Order: sequence, then C-alpha cells, then structure tokens
Amino acid sequence: MDPSKDNPLIRFRAFIWGIGIFSLFALAFVVLAIFKGKASPDVAEDAAATPRYDTKKKVDTAQSANFSYKEVEAGKVVQVPPHDVFSHVGGLLASSQPVAVEKPEQIVPGSPTQKKMEEAAKTAAPIEVAEGDANAPIDPAVMAAGQATFALCMACHGMNGEGGPIAPPLANSEWVTGPVSNPIRIVLRGLGGPISVAGKDYNFPAPMGQLSSLSDDQIAAVLTYARNSWGNKASAVTADQVKAFRGEVGLPVLQVSDLKAPK
Ligand code: HEC
Repeated sequence: MDPSKDNPLIRFRAFIWGIGIFSLFALAFVVLAIFKGKASPDVAEDAAATPRYDTKKKVDTAQSANFSYKEVEAGKVVQVPPHDVFSHVGGLLASSQPVAVEKPEQIVPGSPTQKKMEEAAKTAAPIEVAEGDANAPIDPAVMAAGQATFALCMACHGMNGEGGPIAPPLANSEWVTGPVSNPIRIVLRGLGGPISVAGKDYNFPAPMGQLSSLSDDQIAAVLTYARNSWGNKASAVTADQVKAFRGEVGLPVLQVSDLKAPK
C-alpha cells in the first residue's frame, strides 16, 4: 500500500467525513419522519381505532347507567349501588379459584381441576328436578333478598335485566323463565358461546363466569327475583332445587347445547 495514502491524519479526516455524512442522513431521516407523521395520519390505524372507541363509549355508558352517582342530599353524592359491589364481584372471582375451564385441552394433567372433573364426570347423569307451581304466590322476603343479590348480575345484565353490551337481557328471556334447571346451572357453571334470547341472536366475546360461591338460598332468591321481575312470570326457585345441581360446580362453562330447550 502506498504509505502516502495512509497516515493517522488521513484516517482522522476520513473518520470526520464519515460522521458528517452519517449525521446528514440521520437528520434527513428525522425530518422525513416528522413530516410524514404530520402530513399523512395513518388512515388504517384511525379506522381501526374508531370501533374501539365506540365500544369503550358503549361500555362506559352502560356501566355509568348501572353504577350511577346520585345526590342524596345537597352536596352529598353517593354511588348507587355502592362501590362495594365491584370489590364483592372481584372477591368472588378471586376466591372461586376458577376450576371451570372452557376447553378440556386447557386442563393441566394431574391438577386439582383435573381431579375435580373426574369426580364430577362420575356423577354426570342428567339431574331432573320437579318444576314449581307458576301460580303460587311469591314470598316478598325472597324477592327482597333476590333483589339484593341481583346487584351482582346487574353489572352485566343491566339494572332492570334489559341486557347491555356485554350480556343479553334477562327480562323476557325464555332461559330465565323456562325449565328451572337452566338458570340454576348457568349460575353454577357459567355460560358461553352463541345464544338466542327472546328471538335475538347474541355472541359475546366473553362468557358468563360461574357464581357458585353464592349460597343455595342466594341463588334461589336471585333467580326467583329474575323470574318474577320486569314482566317475567315463573315459579319460585327453591334452595333444594339449586342444591340438586351443586355436583356440577367445577365442570366446564356451559354452552347452549348443554341446556334444556326452553320451549
Ligand atoms: C360478568 C358478566 C355477567 C354477570 C355478573 C352475570 N352474567 Fe349472566 N350472562 C353473561 C353473559 C355474557 C351471558 C351470555 C352467555 C353466552 O354468551 O352464551 C349471560 C347469560 C345469562 C343467562 C342466559 C341468557 C339470558 O339472557 O337469559 C342467564 C339466565 C343469566 N346470565 C343469569 C345471570 C344471573 C342470575 C346473574 C347473577 C347471579 C348473572 N347472570 C351474572 C354475563 C354475566
């Protein structure tokens, strides 16, 4: 190599030129990026965001309708129903140690869930309970107890069982007023997948989780309340009827095909 073409000074100069040119490209890149960001907003991203904001708005509206704030006396605003409902629902979910998984292949071999499923499968003969008398008068104390427990269901099914963006209506629902085993098993095991309620088809992104930590009396009362509110009329549900299905707790979330056809 020609020594006159390679000495520390030449190397240093080449190095400085290198940095200079690199900086020019970097600057051009940054300027272009800023310009592009301002001049052409990402149309596809905006289009995708619109339905997300729409959904959020719907959920927010539904929730604020269910959990609205009310001025009880001048300057004193309380949340109705109380914020405790949220902690209660959260606590229930956390303490239920979800044994009910949606798909058999999600069960970890040798896990407590698998053992529980095996046990439950042994007693999986369809349970039949006698339907109550639809014309018998409903105990107002049971209705009041049911209304209190309904605060749980309200979060998804609406104040008056009218349904909402995340759950179908209970008012005028054949699943509520039909064979008593359906609503009992839904509360004990949860329900997922497409469903038609009062002639309308629904397919919610998330299933209803089981609420089996409620007592037999609480489930009986809340279902009696749902079966006899908002225009619904059906027999009261008894704690014994609920108890008959306790063995199913821990089985996978129900699908409509697991239920009795309401009519
Ligand atoms: C976390 C939200 C949530 C809560 C809380 C909840 N549900 Fe549901 N419920 C759902 C969803 C979602 C469905 C629809 C399931 C599907 O996709 O098939 C459903 C379906 C039902 C159905 C059958 C369909 C219908 O509309 O009649 C009944 C009955 C029912 N729920 C009763 C109850 C009762 C009673 C409670 C309270 C003890 C309750 N649910 C609490 C979300 C919820």
